[in-house]
Amino acid sequence: MSRHVGVVGAGTMGVGVSQAFAEGGCRVTLVDTSADALAAARERIAVDSRMAALFDRNPAGKAGEITFTTGFEHLADTCFVVENVTENVEVKRVVHERLDEICPAECVFGVNTSAIPITQVAGYTGRPDRVIGTHFMNPAQLKPLVEVIRGFHTSPETVAATRSLLAAIGKESIVVHDSPGFVTNRVAMLTVNEAICLLDEGVATAADVDRLFVRCFGHRMGPLATADLIGLDTVLYSLDVLVEQFGDPKYRPSTLLRQYVTAGLLGRKSGRGFFTYDIEPVR
Ligand SMILES: NC(=O)c1ccc[n+]([C@@H]2O[C@H](COP(=O)([O-])OP(=O)(O)OC[C@H]3O[C@@H](n4cnc5c(N)ncnc54)[C@H](O)[C@@H]3O)[C@@H](O)[C@H]2O)c1
Repeated sequence: MSRHVGVVGAGTMGVGVSQAFAEGGCRVTLVDTSADALAAARERIAVDSRMAALFDRNPAGKAGEITFTTGFEHLADTCFVVENVTENVEVKRVVHERLDEICPAECVFGVNTSAIPITQVAGYTGRPDRVIGTHFMNPAQLKPLVEVIRGFHTSPETVAATRSLLAAIGKESIVVHDSPGFVTNRVAMLTVNEAICLLDEGVATAADVDRLFVRCFGHRMGPLATADLIGLDTVLYSLDVLVEQFGDPKYRPSTLLRQYVTAGLLGRKSGRGFFTYDIEPVR
């Protein structure tokens, strides 16, 4: 029987992570407390799967099954769970305590977070040696590499099992030590935040800020479009975590970012952020 992988959180990341494992041949159970989020996830996966078949990314028949549910008890026979809930320590604490009660003792928990230290999340469980950071990039089903974070107590066996599972679904991995924001977001969040400050100060328009990065640096996407893709709420929460963890004001979120989030402009997922999107809002 194929491996049973749990995915918790059916938002921006949970959708792509579920697809990545399903396309890699795993049986996937996607859990969220919000029935609306699960319905939107089902719709997005259906649309993307049709695109995947069209572009031959996932020829028909290769995808495993995905079960959508609000019941955590369906994770009772999983071998690996990737947690992708909101970037908030309290939310992650409640979820990991629950997972620890339900999942088999040998099950590994992959924490998908932008900035929260893995060692801190591991401390919410009775299995810190089996907790590891799996920082998937967005959209997870398309990105070839996962930043894997070894927490203070993560065992070499957990690192090996995680890398082997990722390899089985076609993902490369780079293992780094635990530090807030890891490698990628410690740099990326500063860049995104500074780009928002430039916009706030009127130094350039959003389109021009991004065009400079695309045309001059050859980036596929500018920092403001990247922020819209991530979700402006997730960018804000990640910067809040970095300020708190490092105690360094260089990570302080831009006032404009906070205002956008308060106003409900969350980027692609709400249909509007620094740019507007023709796509249907997913939530
Ligand atoms: N968005 C990105 O580009 C990106 C990239 C890498 C990592 N991450 C990280 O992945 C995690 C998820 O980010 P996202 O962008 O998908 O967030 P999101 O806000 O789009 O989705 C979060 C989901 O978690 C669900 N949730 C909240 N509390 C829950 C609970 N107690 N039990 C089950 N589900 C619950 C919400 O209903 C929501 O559907 C965050 O920690 C984020 O930092 C995000």
